[in-house]
Parts: sequence; structure tokens; C-alpha cells
Amino acid sequence: MSARRLDLRTPAWFRRVVFYELSVRSFRDSNGDGVGDLPGVLDRLDYLRDLGVGAVWLLPFYRSPWRDDGYDISDHYSVDPRLGTIDDLATLVEAAHARGIRIIGDFVSNHVSDQHPWFQEARRDRGSPRRAWFLWSDTGKEFSRARTMFPGAETSNWTWDELAGQYYFHRFFASQPDLNYDTPAVRAEMLNVARFWLARGLDGFRCDAVPYLIKREGTACQSLPEVHQFFQEVRAMMHSEFPGTVLVAEANQTVPETVAYFDQGREFDMVMHFPLMPNLFLALAEKNPRRVLDVLRATLPGVPPECGWAYFLRNHDELTLGQVSADERALFLRFYDPAHGSEIYNGLRRRLAPLVGGDDSSVLLLTALILALPGSPFLYYGDEIGMGDRLDLPDRDPGRTPMQWTADPSAGFSSAPADRLTRPLVTDPAYAPSVRNVADEERVPFSLLGHMRNLLRVRGAHAAIFGRERFVGVDLGESPVLGFWRPGAEYEVLCLYNFSEEPVAGDVPLAPSVWAAPVELVRGGSSSTLGDAGYHFRLSRRGFSWTLFPVRSPPAAA
Ligand code: BGC
Ligand code: MG
Repeated sequence: MSARRLDLRTPAWFRRVVFYELSVRSFRDSNGDGVGDLPGVLDRLDYLRDLGVGAVWLLPFYRSPWRDDGYDISDHYSVDPRLGTIDDLATLVEAAHARGIRIIGDFVSNHVSDQHPWFQEARRDRGSPRRAWFLWSDTGKEFSRARTMFPGAETSNWTWDELAGQYYFHRFFASQPDLNYDTPAVRAEMLNVARFWLARGLDGFRCDAVPYLIKREGTACQSLPEVHQFFQEVRAMMHSEFPGTVLVAEANQTVPETVAYFDQGREFDMVMHFPLMPNLFLALAEKNPRRVLDVLRATLPGVPPECGWAYFLRNHDELTLGQVSADERALFLRFYDPAHGSEIYNGLRRRLAPLVGGDDSSVLLLTALILALPGSPFLYYGDEIGMGDRLDLPDRDPGRTPMQWTADPSAGFSSAPADRLTRPLVTDPAYAPSVRNVADEERVPFSLLGHMRNLLRVRGAHAAIFGRERFVGVDLGESPVLGFWRPGAEYEVLCLYNFSEEPVAGDVPLAPSVWAAPVELVRGGSSSTLGDAGYHFRLSRRGFSWTLFPVRSPPAAA
């Protein structure tokens, strides 16, 4: 089993790579049925390798009625037949590993589909042992402090089931009954689900909806101690039975609650940085990066060695505003949703490029920022070519449209006609496949995709430094520039980002530890000189730079 693994014992390999989140359903259709599939992903592995991706996160590909795009699983031990087979997955994993790319799956442990045989058995028979796998109530009044996750779509976490003669609990859609983690058989089964996929070659999991597994009366039913216990068990199993695999938490919580998921290195290897994400966009709106540095200073020291933050700008969900104040939310909406068309649940259902008005410089500024922080960046498929969205689609589907490979009528996604695709293509003239697609961006030297590839290449070449934990913020006073050093043993990298809409110049005093012999790694619209005041930089609007300085060697011991 270990032969098929890459050099997976490399400590903290996950901090050296760039992750790429993709929807199998929407990435590439290999058999012309209009639905993306696993062989389609296989077909595009070279694209991912050329982009510089080191790990792919596959959104749920398990059997599902797709009432929540696969987060409603009806059989944990099979691949949805529309997406392929278990053999297709094995082939994909092997081919990815051969290219140095790891593959992680999604571990959806909080709930199942209401179509799942477990739930069907449970609702039919009070005496069935499956009954205790779910949470039931005669009144539907318990756990009233647990907020509903899809406000507007669900008004309660309890739904009456006629057949069961009771209410059942669901934290998400009513079609997703929650499992009962106080039942030991549930915990054992879900550990087996994880084992099943790891044994088929997955290199780890992004864990869905982590905080909500345990419910206790009188609490908000999130991040309770037993939640941590369960994931510590999962991690212990993974580290002993599948060494080198990674566990990533989706926990959209406050800073202390989020940091707790590292639990001093005993729990998650990586935790999605939900507290930082909205602040990146707010800083862009304010043209002032101060808040970004504040969040980083507050959250970087809490990370245990060998663990890391997982940074992201967008994903398959709404851009969540769960962690911002009412004032910040108002600013956010004013800036990013002036036409009031994109609010849903707790945030905005837009892709990265349209959020920033189609401005490639802003896309690159934010991407270059998350690429340079200690931890690992997660990119969302299509954002590397500046894909747009379709606000006329329901739920969070606007940002889940088929990947745009070419300018063809079906965007090179499928040989099926455009009106038979699993989701309709983007039609907005600024973002349609005719103007935003991989093939054209590969041909044009200074396309967004070209810049992205270059950034990932440079980050990969210096992974030893970007993956480390050391980070030293630079105080630039009132300047709209965010600056920090990434110190390493042989060199240090100075990263600068201009959040304003105007060109800006400034000086960074050189640390006594470095030689004044800078090498520009990337210049997103910048130039610089060395002067008396240190390093003098000039950045264009929304420009950035990564500059490498050799470290002075210590004087030889006498
Ligand atoms: C996923 C969502 C999903 C929900 C329920 C999440 O946090 O990212 O897409 O709807 O969990 O599984
Ligand atoms: Mg297909």
C-alpha cells in the first residue's frame, strides 16, 4: 500500500503544495452525457500539473440524490454512477500520484441523505437499531440555541416525519438528517468510511461541517468537547493506519474556536482560515490592509509546528460573512453587492473575478497573498482563468458552472450540446467561455492564467520558505501596503502588496540579518532600488512583489 504513496512521510508535505478544489460534476465530461466525471478529471491532470497544483480536493463524488450537490450521501461506499466508478477513482489516484499530485476527498460526517438506507430503516421502525443513528423528538423543540445553517431555506432544525411519527434533527437542509454521534456504532461506521477511501488511495480529507456533530441542550451545539474527541480518533486512526495522510477542517467559527481544531497538534493538520477570508475582501474595499495584518498576528502564533492554516478566497459555498460584525457586513454588501442580487444564507454567492469587478490585478493581489502565507493556499477551480457566475441559478449554483476549457459552444467541457450540460454555462458577456477559457489564456502570454502559473511556479520553487511557519509583519505606518518577511535559513523573502487603487512608493528598512543583494522573484507591477533608507519600492495600483534577500552567514567560529 505504501508503494503507491508519494514520498508521503515527508513531514507536513501539505504545507509545501498548492491545493485545488474541484467539482467532479462540473470539471470535465469524458463520456458526452453532459455530466463531468472522474475520467474527465484524469484527462485534465496535465493541466493541473502545469498550473503547479500539488493536491486536488475532490468535492463529494459519492452516491447521492444531489439535493445538496453531493453533500447528501446515500451510499458512503460507492461512487455516484454519473461520475464514474471506484475503479475510475483508483486510476485517477494512481495517475495523479505519478505526476506528483495528491488527491484528498470530502469527509461528510455530520449528516446523510434522507434517501440513505440507514435513515429509511430508522424512520420506518422505532425498534430498529438504526433508530438511534439519528436524533428524534416528539416536540421538535430541543436544541433551540442551534442556529439554522440555511436561513431563508429552512426555518427549523427539526422536520416532522409522518412515517417515523416524530421530528428528526437536521442542521442543514431537511433532506440531510444528522447522525447521532452519541451512538457508538455511528462513530465506528464513519471511521470505516474514512478507512475505505484511504485504502483506495486518497491522501486525506477535507472534513465537512466539523463543529456540528454533537448536540447538547442549552448550548449552541457547536465545537463541543466530544466533537474534538471524535476527530482526534479519526486522526489517530489515519496516522497509524495511513501515515502521511492529511486532515483539513471546515470550521467556520471565531478565532479561538477555529484555532482549537489544531488542538496542539493532536487533531487537524490544517484548518480553513475562515476568520481571515472576509478580512481580505474588506481590506480591498477599504484600500487598507491593516486588518489583515491584525488577523495574521493574532492567528499565526497559535499554529502548532507540523500543522498549518488552509487559506482560501472562494469555494463552492457562499462567501460567508458569519465571522464579521454588522458594520463590516454592511460595508461588504455595499462594496461587493451594490445591485443587491447575490446575497444568500450567510453571505454572497459570487465567484472571485466578478466580486472584484473582473479586475485581474485584484485577483492576482489576493492570490499572491494567500500563496505567500505560512500554511497552504486552496484555489477554487475556474478562478485561475477569472471565471464568472450565473446569478439566475438556484442556491449556491451560480459559482458551480462547468469549467471553461475552450471557446466552443459547450466550453470544451463536454461533447454534449450546451443545453444538455449538468449546469448551464456562464452567459455574461464579460465572463462567457468565448472570452474566458483555458485554451485562449494558454496562448496569450500575459493572461491571468499565465500570471497564476508563474506565481505557483515561484512558490513551488521556494516551498521550503513559503511552507515554513516564520512570518514577520512589516510596520508601514499609514501606507496602503501590506508587508511581511518570510525568514528562512539561507534567505528571506520580503512580500509587499498594494491594496490601494493608486501607485504607491515606500521604504522597508532592511533587517540586519540580510545581505543587500535582492533578487526579484515576482513583480506584479513593481520596481525597486536600494537606498539609504533600505529597500525602496514602487508598486502599481493593486501591485505586489516578492523579493528574495540572501541571509548573512554567521561569522566563522574562531
Ligand atoms: C459544505 C456545503 C454543504 C454543507 C452541508 C458545508 O459546509 O461546504 O456545501 O451544503 O456543508 O453538508
Ligand atoms: Mg460524463
